[in-house]
Amino acid sequence: MKRLFDFYTVDLSPDENALVILDQTRLPGETVYLTLQDEESIWDAIWSLKVRGAPAIGVAAGYGIYVLAQKYETGSKEAFLKEVRRIRDYLASSRPTAVNLFWALDRMLNTAESAARELPGDGPETVEKIKGRMKEEARRIHREDEATCEAIGRHCLSLLEPGMGILTHCNAGALATAGIGTALAPLYLGNEEGYGFHVYADETRPLLQGARLTAWELHRAGIDVTLICDNMAASVMKSGKIRAVITGADRIAANGDSANKIGTSGVAVLAKEFGIPMYINAPLSTVDFACATGADIKIEERPGEEIFRKWYERPMAPEDIKTYNPAFDVTDAKYITAIITEKGVARPPFTESLQKMRENK
Ligand code: MRU
Repeated sequence: MKRLFDFYTVDLSPDENALVILDQTRLPGETVYLTLQDEESIWDAIWSLKVRGAPAIGVAAGYGIYVLAQKYETGSKEAFLKEVRRIRDYLASSRPTAVNLFWALDRMLNTAESAARELPGDGPETVEKIKGRMKEEARRIHREDEATCEAIGRHCLSLLEPGMGILTHCNAGALATAGIGTALAPLYLGNEEGYGFHVYADETRPLLQGARLTAWELHRAGIDVTLICDNMAASVMKSGKIRAVITGADRIAANGDSANKIGTSGVAVLAKEFGIPMYINAPLSTVDFACATGADIKIEERPGEEIFRKWYERPMAPEDIKTYNPAFDVTDAKYITAIITEKGVARPPFTESLQKMRENK
């Protein structure tokens, strides 16, 4: 499936000393890869959305914490673990909503801690072995994400029919993951099998992930994609052109309430009104069982400048205007037809169906 793409989103550098990402802030105009080695630039790459999308952030965080930890020279396991915990906390402060960031960082920290417990003795050689385990774990997170995307795509494709018009919001595609995406995965798989989908991509203000990223990657893969402004979704739905809405998620509460890019909840409310199924595609790792409902999900607020100037040469509003710029919103579970993970299709009531998926891991 990777053959569809002549780009990749995130990887470890060939010398294994750096995190390499495709700088998504330069798309669609330029395809530029950044090689990141220091903690400020890795933190900034996540904060400024150079690498973005919940699963891709998780993979980048896995490699990021490894790259930073392996530079730390010490002969003490305890000192090494202290440094890994410090890096974990620092990278975790970059963005608050996508649970995959914390999930991947904690998985890496746990790997280091259990290696330290299991490996006998102390000294530089033991610390090197712990670093080796961390590298393997980061690569495992990467590989798992590829497989997860493919499985999500297969399960979701079973709900779709050839020729369907499908609306998506933001970017939950190859650029948001290390594989073929979550929301866009069934579209890539269906395209290979001649489904002939007609995809409508919301532009996704204020940072235009739909226009700059979703339209770019679908168009490049030869999928029929039509770009619309966010405020056109109701009209396109009413015209009968849309038969399913598919988006990703950044964090899903135990009851199915799903945080995703700002604007998703409005799309979901519209979909319900027009009788269109609303599918949320996400890895099981995006379900945060510690959040009982969407009210427990922390929503990132970003600088107002993104609304009035970012991506445009000229200001789009008075520069001293008051702004409110939440990056995500929560779609209540009652608007969601199904949540599709690598384990299958969860239907309401989600508290039971998601829990069942978790237990069948
Ligand atoms: O702010 P972003 O671009 O990181 O937001 C991304 C989204 O909202 C995606 O839909 C979500 O992370 C799922 S990506 C498979």
